[in-house]
Amino acid sequence: MRHLLSAGDLSRDEAVLVLDTAAELALVGDRSVKKLPTLRGRTVVNLFYEDSTRTRTSFELAAKRLSADVVNFSAKGSSVSKGESLKDTALTLQAMGADGVVIRHSASGAAHRLAGWVDGSVLNAGDGTHEHPTQALLDAYTMRSRLGRLEGLRVAVVGDILHSRVARSNVLLLTTLGAHVTLVAPPTLLPVSVHTWPCEVSYDLDAVLPKTDVVMMLRVQAERMHDSFFPSVREYSRGYGMHGERLARMPEDAIVMHPGPMVRGMEISAEVADSPRCTVTEQVANGVSLRMAVLYLLLGGS
Ligand code: CP
Repeated sequence: MRHLLSAGDLSRDEAVLVLDTAAELALVGDRSVKKLPTLRGRTVVNLFYEDSTRTRTSFELAAKRLSADVVNFSAKGSSVSKGESLKDTALTLQAMGADGVVIRHSASGAAHRLAGWVDGSVLNAGDGTHEHPTQALLDAYTMRSRLGRLEGLRVAVVGDILHSRVARSNVLLLTTLGAHVTLVAPPTLLPVSVHTWPCEVSYDLDAVLPKTDVVMMLRVQAERMHDSFFPSVREYSRGYGMHGERLARMPEDAIVMHPGPMVRGMEISAEVADSPRCTVTEQVANGVSLRMAVLYLLLGGS
């Protein structure tokens, strides 16, 4: 495979290979193994048109731990503000010798478009409301390392499904890996096409929780909706927020996940976010080795 554009492009064997490779690379960065020489002489460009904390820094760290040269490009402060198009920006970066381009963009399909313009590998770091495949891979990695399996796992993805690229990528990847996914949201935060997705849908979080191994909470993405659609924090939290009482209704070994950034007090209470059953910081840590694995598998060949 040359690019990673969609979690749905991965076969079961390919997805398992990424997770197994990430497990092997997880030791790099600790005191005994600082770096691997695998991508020495290769250049990775982080092309970010949208804000990011976790994805951009972990791709940078991952590429550096594999000894690649890393260029961080942010649309803010670049010639994009003078009207330069994505295509011309991409061709400029390619002319400078990019072997891999990690792209985040507000337009769904931007990563796919980019893959048609550049010679190197394109890694989708989030395109609009479409997909975020490395997030789904690091989520699957975290579930497997916490619970020991993915096959047959019952996963509830809760919140703003309508605007979530994380939800779509997780549904595609987790079903490929044999998990059962239920999307839980108010009807206003579900896409009209959701009944064609390979998962179940529920409006009732309390009914789903006792039968769930993993609850993945999502942020309500205010930046992608009109103010009038934004639900009240109190009302949303009452129906779809994860708090201590709801955590107590889940099976004892069930975990709570969140891709970040979290809005404490809305989709997740501070009590749950700081509990040992919440994997949010573990997901961030796993994101580095997972992205190392993806870079290694896509760019590591001769
Ligand atoms: N989960 C995630 O994509 O976080 P960032 O927006 O901080 O990269």
